[in-house]
Amino acid sequence: MTSAKANDSIGALRRNLDAGSGAAKPRNIDVSPLIDSDGGLIDRSIYTDREIYAQEMRRIFARSWLFLAHETQFKKPGDFFTTFMGEDPVIVSMDKEKKIRVYLNSCRHRGVRLCRADAGATKMFTCTYHGWSFDLAGALQSVPNETAYPDTFKKENWSLIEVPRVETYKGLIFGNWDKNADSLEDNLGDMKYYMDAMLDRDPEGTEVVGGVMKWELEGNWKLAAEQFATDWYHVNMSHASALMVLSPTGKGPKADIAATPGRQHGSENGHGAGFPTHPKSRFDAKMVHDYYDYDFLRERLGDDAVEGPMTTGHATVFPNFSYLPVNGSIRVWHPKGPDKIEVWAWILVDKSMPQDVKDAQRLYNLRTFGPSGIFEADDGENWSEIQAISGGFVTNSVPLNFQMGIGSEREDGTYPGQTSELYSDAAGRAFYRHWAKVMNTPAWHETN
Ligand code: FES
Ligand SMILES: [Fe+2]
Repeated sequence: MTSAKANDSIGALRRNLDAGSGAAKPRNIDVSPLIDSDGGLIDRSIYTDREIYAQEMRRIFARSWLFLAHETQFKKPGDFFTTFMGEDPVIVSMDKEKKIRVYLNSCRHRGVRLCRADAGATKMFTCTYHGWSFDLAGALQSVPNETAYPDTFKKENWSLIEVPRVETYKGLIFGNWDKNADSLEDNLGDMKYYMDAMLDRDPEGTEVVGGVMKWELEGNWKLAAEQFATDWYHVNMSHASALMVLSPTGKGPKADIAATPGRQHGSENGHGAGFPTHPKSRFDAKMVHDYYDYDFLRERLGDDAVEGPMTTGHATVFPNFSYLPVNGSIRVWHPKGPDKIEVWAWILVDKSMPQDVKDAQRLYNLRTFGPSGIFEADDGENWSEIQAISGGFVTNSVPLNFQMGIGSEREDGTYPGQTSELYSDAAGRAFYRHWAKVMNTPAWHETN
């Protein structure tokens, strides 16, 4: 069986299970009553309920474009990186033809995790339990004591399960378990314009530096994804002390919480990006700011991009990939149960930057949004605080407010798609509108 056929069999197996014992059949919850995206109300059970979480695994993570890795992590055949799609472990690797292929990181024999390294280079993936070995094309190559298996046992039927769709956008590799999904670029749509302000400053493109930073947070994955999509509102309040440290005067932000002009984009596919609009855009690390030729950037990206999404903005690609253009932080919010996130963060720099500028970008990133960054800690604290009390029955019954800027979404004539004010919940409403739609629509493995 080829890997593609193996994938078809997952759907069939799933349907058999679902049609069989009641115990194996998952119950699909209609989430419409939990999300009032037009009225801006969200039910807190979407952060705490185990059945909703299980449905997210089936209907969000098993069918959305999920960020996997950056192209510059793979240079030669055999280079690999292990990560997750939802809670499913996967190996991202470069095959002999230098094509990026992605496999479920679970041995076809008894299911042990096949590759336990975070990253590396190999010719074969050999299971440490009984020694089945798979090549870079996912094919089962050797089985110890193979002659003891019946004649019906064929190695070609036991290839690794392969992710059927792997596509890249300007260096970012995404995978999708749904072989009939819209292309990555179609799915991103208008979001590409906003992403280009980080990914396309340099004709040479971007690269990641310094490895992958990983840390855990108490909180539902959506709290982080939603904040990066929509929330500039918290900046001057939550990060007041961090802004004070960074301010040349030591005084920090002005008293007004909502003092900055800017826009926020929310897409029908759940993506979101917000950014202050500055006549002069600047990077906070002085060396990075001094490095850039702004006339060149204006010509390359357009004035509106340079004065908007290239600034100190925030963004989420639905469901769980987020980034900060100004310091090159790109991250995945890996769900680990309804109340836990594992954050995996990379630092992105322009390939053409001299080494000292790359170092400056990396250090600035670490100081602000690394695992112990002065801003990062503030955000994680807020999400954990929401999660920590959301289990209380009465607490969980009280809806959350996403009403800022309701009705303000429009085509603004400058930025693509629907935009609202910088201080708005528009992208949050768009995120949850799309979430509810996907949660209520059967996925590829549920239909014939
Ligand atoms: S579980 Fe991998 S060889 Fe047995
Ligand atoms: Fe923040």
